[in-house]
Amino acid sequence: MKHLPQLFENNRVWAGELRKSDPEFFTRLCRQQAPPYFWIGCSDSRVPANQIVGLRPGELFVHRNIANIFVHSDLNALSALHFAVDVLKVSHVIVCGHYGCSGIRASLVGERHGLVDNWLRHIGDVREKHRHRLASLAEDDEYARLCELNVIEQVRNVSNTTVVRDAWARGHSLAIHGWIYGLTDGLLVDLGVSGRDEAEINASYCRAAGS
Ligand code: CO
Repeated sequence: MKHLPQLFENNRVWAGELRKSDPEFFTRLCRQQAPPYFWIGCSDSRVPANQIVGLRPGELFVHRNIANIFVHSDLNALSALHFAVDVLKVSHVIVCGHYGCSGIRASLVGERHGLVDNWLRHIGDVREKHRHRLASLAEDDEYARLCELNVIEQVRNVSNTTVVRDAWARGHSLAIHGWIYGLTDGLLVDLGVSGRDEAEINASYCRAAGS
């Protein structure tokens, strides 16, 4: 018995179309991957990394988790960052959140789901850190702003890792960016938190976070 036949049929069509447009595509990709970008995004099925930035296989190295959180003790995320920076030599790390993030919503309204609540506690920490800025906002605006602030905080977390600090110390040209994606229009917005060194990140963090 064949399981999920539609997905295999979709795959056959997809691979066939790629081969038709570029007969050497898979042969070339087999030899090596050299993506210039590392993407840290939400696992949300509505935010497919490659598709929203129009990149093909081989062009984007991707790490996704619930609510695009990057914490200092997450060995999975740190390993992906290390591999992207030290082995693949990417030039850009993009932290991309999205409005309407269910993880952020759950944290905001205090919904209980079980184990994942502990992961989402990181969002609660972001909210507490910025509580004075969020306090004056209406509910929908607070939700949207917390989605943004979460990206802004994760950019800073990425920039504080030994991986990024060591890369900058070696003179590796590495920029970090914070973006957010709109589920309602499919468009990306640059949150203005970005930089190629600690000073640039810190200055842009203060502007973007409003401090
Ligand atoms: Co999300």
